[in-house]
Amino acid sequence: MNHTAKIPHIKSVETRHLEERETLFRGLHSLDRRSFLKVSTGAAAAAVAAGVSNHFHSFLPVNVAYAADSAGAPGFTFAYISDSHLYVKQTNERFVRQLLRAVDDVNKLDPQPDFVFFGGDLAQLGRKEELDLGAQILKSLKAPLHMMVGEHDWFFDMGHRWNELFGAQTYSFDHKGVHFVVLMSVQEKDFWSARGMSPAERMHTVAGLDNAVQSAFEVGAAQREWLRKDLEKVPTSTPLIVFSHSPLYKLYRPWNFWTDDAEDVQALLQRFDRVTVLHGHTHQVLTNRIGNIQFHGMLSTAWPWPYAPQGMPALTVQMNRPNPFDSNDGLGDGTIAVHPDGLVDMLYGLWNRDPMQVKASYLSSGGKSDIPVAPTLASY
Ligand SMILES: [Fe+2]
Ligand SMILES: [Fe+2]
Repeated sequence: MNHTAKIPHIKSVETRHLEERETLFRGLHSLDRRSFLKVSTGAAAAAVAAGVSNHFHSFLPVNVAYAADSAGAPGFTFAYISDSHLYVKQTNERFVRQLLRAVDDVNKLDPQPDFVFFGGDLAQLGRKEELDLGAQILKSLKAPLHMMVGEHDWFFDMGHRWNELFGAQTYSFDHKGVHFVVLMSVQEKDFWSARGMSPAERMHTVAGLDNAVQSAFEVGAAQREWLRKDLEKVPTSTPLIVFSHSPLYKLYRPWNFWTDDAEDVQALLQRFDRVTVLHGHTHQVLTNRIGNIQFHGMLSTAWPWPYAPQGMPALTVQMNRPNPFDSNDGLGDGTIAVHPDGLVDMLYGLWNRDPMQVKASYLSSGGKSDIPVAPTLASY
């Protein structure tokens, strides 16, 4: 007797997942904007239906009064997405899915942010295929996009493809009374030529955190001179927001949570009344203040780094250590509310967790008021 003939055909979760993945990637092969949106929306819906992904968080209302200040400047918001670390899609589609989720999150914001900032490490190994895939996904954002480079985008072809796709890696722009500066803070001294390294070996060396081969990240003399000139024309009363991929201070050298010429860059920012530095690379809630400069790290959509073994800056309220069995835990994207005076409230949209908000008033008061509420769910 053939028992198997009586068993109804039931697709396992894995089979459904694989079919869904196939649909996603068939769509990604040749997508124009319209088909891309269809595919990504379908994939997100399928993931929810299969219980693969938890609910999409909704952003907390940002507690900022948008009254114009005495000079008449309005407040505004922008969104951030960072550190997606895309591999070619045959290798790892999970990171693709996670970047899609961040794009969905930001596209759902109502009202839309003034712009979206991408904090670097779009790619994992700097390959053209990875960068092209990232560019294609980010095209679906409704709001205008500003890009920053990370070390994973750079050291395979020394920025060639990234520059083709996104333009210059160092630039500035003005928006509603705030002067924005974007730096390439992950320059390294040439450790590869004398060792006869191939581009792939160079990239792999930089991508491996804890090795003694690569040199420390730096902004470098040429770019510091560019910055000095760029800021020359900016009055000290103008609020300044600086983006760097690595933190513009020295936290932990073995993981390059570090910028070697940080003090020289800080010196150029010192004369301004209100300065905020926002950085990628550290993949965690990270808060610091040095003199007049307030620092915030961005979340990653790919993986969370643990906190550096030597500890955190005193003002950091630690996010939870993520659940190792939940691939979306410890990840996220977020929004930044820029006050009329130019200081910012950073909202960390931690996926599957309560959002965390780190306000300008918390940093300005030296940690005495508006202490961020840490996530209440379990830490692992
Ligand atoms: Fe990263
Ligand atoms: Fe990085």
